[in-house]
Amino acid sequence: MNNGYILITGASSGIGYQLAKIYAQKGRKLILVARTLAPLVALQQQYVGNIEVIQADLSCLEEAKHVYLFTQKQGWFIHTLINNAGVGLLGDFTQTELEEEIAMVNVNIQSLMILTKLYLQDMLKMNKGHILNVSSVAGEMPGGPQMAVYYATKAFVTSFSQGLRYELRHTGINVSILAPGPTLTNFVKTATGTENSTLFAMLKFQTAETVAQYTEKHLSKGKLIIPGFWNKLMVYGHRFLPRALVIALINRIQSSKKAS
Ligand SMILES: NC(=O)c1ccc[n+]([C@@H]2O[C@H](COP(=O)([O-])OP(=O)(O)OC[C@H]3O[C@@H](n4cnc5c(N)ncnc54)[C@H](OP(=O)(O)O)[C@@H]3O)[C@@H](O)[C@H]2O)c1
Repeated sequence: MNNGYILITGASSGIGYQLAKIYAQKGRKLILVARTLAPLVALQQQYVGNIEVIQADLSCLEEAKHVYLFTQKQGWFIHTLINNAGVGLLGDFTQTELEEEIAMVNVNIQSLMILTKLYLQDMLKMNKGHILNVSSVAGEMPGGPQMAVYYATKAFVTSFSQGLRYELRHTGINVSILAPGPTLTNFVKTATGTENSTLFAMLKFQTAETVAQYTEKHLSKGKLIIPGFWNKLMVYGHRFLPRALVIALINRIQSSKKAS
């Protein structure tokens, strides 16, 4: 991880921001990507010389390609790509806004796939690199009523990353998946519109800092990185239950969010 840059998407808040802070403190060379520049610039000013920032809206696929072209033009080799940017949306699929779902699919799936495809070419030339795709415990579930598209995007991230890791098994390139559970970040507010619901009283939240610290510690060996005991229990435990029951339970939990 010492040669080249670590590129983190969604580095302006939450898990991505905390990861950026950890790597900046370790003196790593970073490229930070998000729409909101201020937190990125603040880190850049704090760790002078080690951080580059790129403002990009990853719901626009051309901007994802532009991120790659810009770094390529600068001659920056990305050794570690952290596809962390992600958004969620709560609500019945019949009631939610299609445009928001399209933007979610663009950020959570399409831009992640585009950046992976493009940076992978350079990693293959060097026969080294690491891709960390941020999925979710949701990505392991058989379905997520009331957040159906979000759960499906994370299932994509998990499935895609596992397939890619196998394809790359004889190369020097690693693919890891981070599957956080409920984490106290802006995501909670932006995805669900609330943070004071029954759901949030029920769930075991971690801080973004804890998730980022755990991730950094387990990245070099981790294939599926699941921070926290309760999240591991959800991922491995639900496999012993009928899929229909798991979906009904998720529906119950998600509905409590809407009701509150
Ligand atoms: N929090 C949870 O409970 C939880 C659980 C499981 C998985 N996750 C996953 O963890 C990842 C990080 O989320 P978080 O919890 O840290 O939430 P967060 O604090 O809301 O951070 C999301 C990041 O994604 C960026 N982003 C969102 N839309 C973007 C766009 N159109 N273009 C570029 N960047 C965009 C945001 O930056 P700007 O708004 O500045 O662009 C922000 O930096 C996501 O993939 C999320 O799905 C979160």
